[in-house]
Amino acid sequence: MTAVALSVRDFEAAARATLDPVYADFIAGGARDEITVRANEAAFGELQLLPRVLRGNAVRSLDITLFGGRASMPVLLSPTAFHKLVDPEGEVATARAAAAAGAIMVVSMASTVAVGEIAEAARRACEGADPPPLWFQLYLQPDREITEALVRRATDAGCAALVVTVDSAVLGAGERNRRNGFHDLPPGLRCENLVDLRDGENGHVRQILMSAEFTWEHVDWLRGITDLPILLKGVLHPDDARLAVRHGVDGLVLSNHGGRQLDTVPATLELLPEIAAAVEGRVPVVLDGGVRRGTDVVKALALGASAVGIGRPVMWALADSGEKGVRRLLELLREELDDTLALCGASGVADLTPELVRFPSWGP
Ligand code: FNR
Repeated sequence: MTAVALSVRDFEAAARATLDPVYADFIAGGARDEITVRANEAAFGELQLLPRVLRGNAVRSLDITLFGGRASMPVLLSPTAFHKLVDPEGEVATARAAAAAGAIMVVSMASTVAVGEIAEAARRACEGADPPPLWFQLYLQPDREITEALVRRATDAGCAALVVTVDSAVLGAGERNRRNGFHDLPPGLRCENLVDLRDGENGHVRQILMSAEFTWEHVDWLRGITDLPILLKGVLHPDDARLAVRHGVDGLVLSNHGGRQLDTVPATLELLPEIAAAVEGRVPVVLDGGVRRGTDVVKALALGASAVGIGRPVMWALADSGEKGVRRLLELLREELDDTLALCGASGVADLTPELVRFPSWGP
């Protein structure tokens, strides 16, 4: 790390100073014109906070509970692939930092360390105390036996929930990656969760099959083979949110994949009020996309999210300074979040309600 990072955004500049530009593009990039990438961040800037004062909120808590598991802050680490691209310890470093911070980490199906090893690293980092929950992200696979094997691996590792990404019928059109010829992991790295799942293919990226064949029937099938809570990641339409609840899904991750799948979809923050209204509090909604500040977290929670996820910031911090970097990143967000709560007159996440936010209006 060249200088002490004072904000989440500082990590990007610091990481870019040393990171292979092909990998920096892989992290930063989005689909097509990257309109949604920009929209996600911009939406937070457009929304205003309208704080309350004299609320006697000297004692504050950032704790949340999701599916019975406690976390010390409403910020979780969204699933991101290939951590070893940017740090030799990869997901082990990330997991230690998340565990130390008490934050939920969602392990990507495309992790470069096996989920069991990641879980073990998180447990050790907590030295006997209970680690925060670890969740596992899954792309449904056309071969049901492979999906089942992945669910088993996540369950055996002690994962507390499954996050099923449903916005990836085909791989997003990342033109930066195409231009850079980045399609594969470098020699020595593989998708460790996929090792030994299919004859002759040992963790190669091409083992992750994207498919447009899936329907709600596959969600029902998954519901039938696991007792773990299931969250669907990438539902954007309120009607699909209602369908998800009807199909027994336990939660939603309101996500546009950080603008990496379909370009020109709305910012997730903009969709949040509609999605929250559609699910009527029956299941928790986690929002990700463009969260960079404590004020962003407060705005999302005020509009109905139970927690938020961060993707790129984790990769930048990991690339910049490994486990230490991710620890610092989470500390910074915790400090900002606590400050924001203090200044908004809130004592905890339950005090974050829609009255706290407004869109600018210049008229009377
Ligand atoms: C991702 N994302 C992602 N999502 C997923 O379901 N499985 C995955 O393996 C990945 N991999 C991945 C790699 C990288 C480098 C990025 C940047 C993103 C999407 C991720 O979970 C999340 O939705 C977005 O990153 C959130 O937006 P921000 O915080 O990056 O703006």
